[in-house]
Amino acid sequence: MIRLVGIEKTYRVRGGKRGESVHALRGVDLDIPDGSAISIIGESGCGKSTLGRIIAGIEQPTSGTILCDGTDITKWNAGRRREFLRGIQMIHQDPYSALNPVRTIDEILMDVLRLHARESGKDSHWVDRHLPAILDLVGLDPGYVLPRYPHQLSGGMRQRIVIARALAVEPKVLVADEAVSMIDVSLRLGILGLLRRLRNDLGISVVFITHDLASARYIGDNSTVAVLYRGSVVEQGPSESVISQAPEHPYTQALLSSIPLLRGLEHKAAEQVVPTGILEEGNDDAGCLFAPRCPFATHECRQRRPSLDRISESGCATAPNPNTNLDPHPHTFRNAGTGGHRVACWHPTRRKVIPYRTDITGR
Ligand SMILES: Nc1ncnc2c1ncn2[C@@H]1O[C@H](COP(=O)(O)OP(=O)(O)OP(=O)(O)O)[C@@H](O)[C@H]1O
Ligand code: SF4
Ligand SMILES: [Mg+2]
Repeated sequence: MIRLVGIEKTYRVRGGKRGESVHALRGVDLDIPDGSAISIIGESGCGKSTLGRIIAGIEQPTSGTILCDGTDITKWNAGRRREFLRGIQMIHQDPYSALNPVRTIDEILMDVLRLHARESGKDSHWVDRHLPAILDLVGLDPGYVLPRYPHQLSGGMRQRIVIARALAVEPKVLVADEAVSMIDVSLRLGILGLLRRLRNDLGISVVFITHDLASARYIGDNSTVAVLYRGSVVEQGPSESVISQAPEHPYTQALLSSIPLLRGLEHKAAEQVVPTGILEEGNDDAGCLFAPRCPFATHECRQRRPSLDRISESGCATAPNPNTNLDPHPHTFRNAGTGGHRVACWHPTRRKVIPYRTDITGR
């Protein structure tokens, strides 16, 4: 289990006024249990990639602690820390720029496999066995892909190669940062299904970073969603609850309200939450960070910042009736799944913003 506690990240603004900084993360707490799936969602600039890079060890937090099975990894020696970080692999948005264009897929994968075999004391037979095994896992034919260069493959195949390369080092965690956003819509479900299988079959944890709530719905059963707003987690809990049944934070509700409806396929939601203004960075008053845009902001909201420690009292144990959009059991759900459903809002209220239909979400 990896645990992030109070992670802060501040960047100096390049070319900005002296001392000007961006607060990319503001005290994020996040648990990544073994074999879990966590979606991190939020609009552009909210700190998703920064959080992903910190989880993967590519960047250091300005403050905060990262624990692995209860011990602080900064207290470990360099060798142990390197081994831990090798177990966390990042998959980026653009599979083309992630692959060396002048090397064949065979060379790209063999480089990583040989290095990993050397560092972890495996023999050359392991490399020979592992190459076809990882291609099989990602659903690619070795005879077709190995002799080819990245530009000779489709975007979906290239992203599968990037995932295969990550699997070459036998990771425990995959951090997928917008991993399907540059792929044709028709191929996205295949990649999401692959990530789901890797979790189910190999027990690999998946941290799925996206601004697209529709993708987050497909990342798997018993997954968790953390909604980031300006570097703070404002709502967190089981995916079914946060994005399919009972979102309680007005920002989560605004994100869900903005999903375009497929006319005739999805039910129109009963309510819409629309932010009252555009995102303005730099407004760091003492109150709720969403208050300048929140249609439900009160005087209290502008005075004090809510923390993510209020367990939601509401939610539901069964799906709402798709015909009426009304929840048949308004007060029966409580604290389901890892960590329960938490919301950072002084006035958490469930609103019917979800165009929910069971046959479309696959449940
Ligand atoms: N290396 C950097 N130097 C300065 N500022 C940075 C740096 N990286 C990120 N930031 C700033 O930190 C904030 C969070 O950025 P981040 O890339 O994590 O957001 P994001 O949620 O991933 O956005 P997107 O959806 O557009 O990818 C932004 O205001 C961004 O401009
Ligand atoms: S605390 Fe107030 S301003 Fe912030 S999200 Fe909740 S209702 Fe809106
Ligand atoms: Mg990003």
